Amino acid sequence: MKVMVVGGGGREHAIIKKIKENGKVEEIFALPGNGGIAADATCVDIGAKDIDKIVDFAVEKAIDFAVVAPDDPLVLGAVDALKAKGIKTFGPDKKAAIIEGSKAFSKDLMKKYNIPTASYETFSDMEEALAHVESCPIPVVVKADGLALGKGVIIAETREAAKDAVVTIMGDKVFGDSGNKVVIEEFLTGPEVSVLSFTDGKTIVPMVSSMDHKRALDGDKGLNTGGMGTVAPNPYYTDEISKECMETIFKPTVEAMNKEGRSFSGCLYFGLMLTEKGPKVIEYNCRFGDPETQVVLPLLESDLLDIMLKIYDQELDKAEVRFSEKSAACVVMASEGYPQKYETGFEITMPADKNIYVAGAKLKEGKLITGGGRVLGVTEMGKTLEEAINKAYETVKTVSFDNAYYRKDIGKRALMAERK
Ligand code: AMP
Ligand code: GLY
Repeated sequence: MKVMVVGGGGREHAIIKKIKENGKVEEIFALPGNGGIAADATCVDIGAKDIDKIVDFAVEKAIDFAVVAPDDPLVLGAVDALKAKGIKTFGPDKKAAIIEGSKAFSKDLMKKYNIPTASYETFSDMEEALAHVESCPIPVVVKADGLALGKGVIIAETREAAKDAVVTIMGDKVFGDSGNKVVIEEFLTGPEVSVLSFTDGKTIVPMVSSMDHKRALDGDKGLNTGGMGTVAPNPYYTDEISKECMETIFKPTVEAMNKEGRSFSGCLYFGLMLTEKGPKVIEYNCRFGDPETQVVLPLLESDLLDIMLKIYDQELDKAEVRFSEKSAACVVMASEGYPQKYETGFEITMPADKNIYVAGAKLKEGKLITGGGRVLGVTEMGKTLEEAINKAYETVKTVSFDNAYYRKDIGKRALMAERK
């Protein structure tokens, strides 16, 4: 089989490595991939948002199966375009990807179908939004409606900060049209859990839970990033909570999308907060999370491509989805300065026989050089979470590039929760 994966980060590298375990895969293309992914796939210089070129390439190469991994092409309708040309594809169509593409949509969906989430109001008018934050409880969370590279959520600790957030999003339009509307919602507290799930719109099968570390600095300080590391499973997410989530969140979401005529097929990601009043949805993503995928897929013992093919055929109920009892930890190594200014172009040396997922690197004269904020993710597994974390930090020591920065406390909070 010829497989094509759209995207070019650490998540896509993890997906590609897993798909390659299927013996029927002859060739795998990454669009655009990156210098590290080039060790596992043929990289093609087509951007993940360039839908016309992606479709032309798939047709020309007679691709047997395509996976669209990032949010942008999914929300823009890449799956619809590929399927229209007869290419079998994994991922939600445009109508279903709106669950991530519009926060106003997803909040209204949850309200309509009684799916637990923070209370909220949506505004298309800046003056009305400003009037609302004049009197709402503080802290409050201000969110741009559309995609904003993971930066469209502002937790305002003061009324002034809330007003600034509204003006930044709706007035200055720093996220472009994604800021035509804002969602202003109740601030919740509690441990966060990421649950990625497979669904074909009929059956939903949650994957092993995980915990992201979004802030740049140790102790969950500093700016929000795309994610500085992950562990799986998430010790806060007990069997009891998982059963509750299945009944109050997972199944109701799939059913709600069906009732809206927006049946979801692909990987549906639930960003949950375990509040005192029970688990609530913080956000939906219409795709695999990054860097959650880098700990979840290594723990998948079943065949990923087979699961994806079954989802395409709406036969997920017949697929084997089995996860290891082990734990996994991923430490992201970034360029010093990320998520703000950083330098790139430094040579990377790393062992070839490890689960290292490359996110931002290029090949230059046969050498791998840094080419992004998040450069790579080092994943290790262990019988216990502690073992996985220790092994990951041991492997980190064997990787080197100038200006490397990584958090030293990935999994620390999870270990504390385990010991409670
Ligand atoms: P998102 O971009 O939607 O993943 O949000 C980024 C982060 O903001 C989440 O991971 C949470 O830590 C935080 N967040 C979002 N919504 C809320 C909320 N209603 N209450 C508290 N924290 C929130
Ligand atoms: N790690 C969070 C995300 O992929 O959005």
